[in-house]
Amino acid sequence: MEKREQLYEGKAKKVFATENPDCVIVSYKDDATAFNGLKKGTITGKGAINNRVTNYLMQLLEKEGVPTHFVEELSDRETVVKKVSIVPLEVIVRNISAGSFAKRYGVEEGIVFDAPTIEFSYKNDDLGDPLLNTSHALALKLATPAEIDAIKAMSFKINDVLKAFFKNVGVDLVDFKLEFGKTNDGKLVLADEISPDTCRFWDSKTHEKLDKDRFRRDLGNVEDAYAEMMKRILG
Ligand code: TMP
Repeated sequence: MEKREQLYEGKAKKVFATENPDCVIVSYKDDATAFNGLKKGTITGKGAINNRVTNYLMQLLEKEGVPTHFVEELSDRETVVKKVSIVPLEVIVRNISAGSFAKRYGVEEGIVFDAPTIEFSYKNDDLGDPLLNTSHALALKLATPAEIDAIKAMSFKINDVLKAFFKNVGVDLVDFKLEFGKTNDGKLVLADEISPDTCRFWDSKTHEKLDKDRFRRDLGNVEDAYAEMMKRILG
């Protein structure tokens, strides 16, 4: 696959065209941001780790029947994925209270829920990704009712698969963010990434944080946490 012109640069990845109109190449950066870009930094080696971790987990999900955008890993940082138009919803699934959930509802972090929760944010940096519900998403025509139903069902299935996988490697999957896209032939697939940038991972025994919260909250040992997660996931 030939890398052609850059189509887009986001906070953590660049996207390039290829000779195939149905495929693009994503290139993962070491740049890290938090709080809608207010905090900026570098996590050395993050791009390569997030690329490999995402690809591993996307292939696991494909095997379990979840359609994804994954096509082929090209190198440490670069992967061919299906070209999609991203549904402008960030889907957050939570198993344990943390982060904005704990803050918004005034509860401590670490409460294990009886059943997972799901919420949507409108993917819009200018507005700071505001929280919205299904009827808001429909009013704004961000997706069709059938797409919202499919996104919810896929997100809970993904949670089941990932929760079980991480339990096996001694990690509690606290919460995570997903994005979905539509391919050129209209198929809804899991897109973006699944990595320590987009998930909260707590060591099952020590409850040590092994994700981007180490960067967001200045906890130190950020690179070590990413490397540890790659080791646990890829073996
Ligand atoms: P939150 O508790 O801050 O709402 O985050 C929930 C999950 O979503 C957490 O695993 C981190 C992830 N996340 C992103 O991937 N991108 C974002 O911009 C934010 C705010 C959270």
